[in-house]
Amino acid sequence: MSAHRPSPPADKVALTYGKRTWRYPVLTGSEGEKAVDISTLRQDTGLITLDPGYVNTGACTSDITFIDGERGILRHRGYSIEDLAEHCVFLEVAYLLILGKLPNRQEWQSFSDLMNRHSMIHEDMRDFFLNYPEGAHPMAVLSAMVVSLSSFYPEIEQEDPNEPIDITATRLLSKLRTIAAFSYKKSIGEPFVYPSCRMSYCENFLNMMFSSPVNDYTPDPVVVRALNLFLILHADHEQNCSTSVVRIVGSAGSSLYASISAGICALWGPLHGGANQAVIEMLERILREDRGKVDKVIARAKQRDARTRLMGFGHRIYKTYDPRAKIAKEVCTRLLSRLGMRNDPILEIAMELEEKALADSYFQERHLYPNVDFYTGIAYRAMGIPTNMFTVMFAIGRLPGWIAHWMENRRDPRQKIGRPRQIYVGPTARPFIPMDQR
Ligand code: CMC
Repeated sequence: MSAHRPSPPADKVALTYGKRTWRYPVLTGSEGEKAVDISTLRQDTGLITLDPGYVNTGACTSDITFIDGERGILRHRGYSIEDLAEHCVFLEVAYLLILGKLPNRQEWQSFSDLMNRHSMIHEDMRDFFLNYPEGAHPMAVLSAMVVSLSSFYPEIEQEDPNEPIDITATRLLSKLRTIAAFSYKKSIGEPFVYPSCRMSYCENFLNMMFSSPVNDYTPDPVVVRALNLFLILHADHEQNCSTSVVRIVGSAGSSLYASISAGICALWGPLHGGANQAVIEMLERILREDRGKVDKVIARAKQRDARTRLMGFGHRIYKTYDPRAKIAKEVCTRLLSRLGMRNDPILEIAMELEEKALADSYFQERHLYPNVDFYTGIAYRAMGIPTNMFTVMFAIGRLPGWIAHWMENRRDPRQKIGRPRQIYVGPTARPFIPMDQR
């Protein structure tokens, strides 16, 4: 797929600096979003732009995902997240993101077959797991194992134009859940469970996580459906921190494995995917210490200190309820009720926190609503997934998005190596001082 090209410029923005005025084209995306194209700004004027956090900066055009943060809209390749969550399994959404269309039956069958064929990891890679110390964070293991794939499967770094489905991408999609489940098994000291060709993507993952020689585990269809839904909710979110990292690493010509490994590290941060772990830790702290602490947590969150923020709240793009959080909340409450955990105290605290925060003028004025991470952790916990695996679950979900963006960037003829500029504010030129005179 080639990246969508914006409509030809209709308007121009005038920039006056000193005695001269330049005009820059205004581009319009397919949903009416507008951007001023400043690609010749420095050449024309000698100026650069300064935009910490890239709050106003578009780094590319893309035809993968559309978000309207003011109206709470999220669409992948034109399909709403609500429709995809209701009608699809995770792998269908992965296919849509990576290949640009929903698969027909035949395409679906060959994609599923490929998924099965590539689900194992090289036997020698198993030894890597054995050498991680007890307590190693699964995100560190995941990132290291993904970049290690490039040494075990070097031949698949090249894209084969005759392959209808990119083999590197398929292998990575299939193997990531195996690596994730193996890292969990290693952390609890149980033998690894191999993937089975008789199970779906999500069933396989749950089976590799929870079955053992002494536990004849059968994945519960209710849990399998919920897992599919949560992975769909995570599948892509345009130019977020980890996806931008994947694109920028890929722009240097680095392999898909290296780029995704870097993306996993970016996702790990508590302001990004690591928030789902931070949310549950916050809720458990409230439960453990004092139920009345909800008010104190809200009061602390208003101190405008990054360390005391209400985790799972706020978003750079959404200034209304995150549409993913809406679905996550529904699925989470339904799942807990089906699992006989209707009165889960953690869910009750989360709902009380949400209600009180949404009624508070601090959160209202700043348009801070629950984000996707607020309810997902509660559901993962109910599925038996340990807290330190929550961000790994996010990574499994986000993988198709990362792959789609890495490929889009590679195929875009206008693609350049990602290389922002800066304004230097350090010392000006000064004479060197030999060591004995310092
Ligand atoms: N609790 C309390 N105050 C907050 C919060 C929060 N969770 N989030 C933002 N604010 C305040 C912030 O202090 C600032 O106030 P003021 O204007 O008075 O200085 C204002 O709201 C704007 O915040 P910002 O930091 O400029 O917003 P941002 O777009 O740079 O940050 C964010 C977005 C998601 C990093 C931030 O909202 C946050 O830290 N949230 C908690 C962590 C979290 O849940 N992250 C998951 C994000 S969704 C999944 C994903 O993409 O990974």
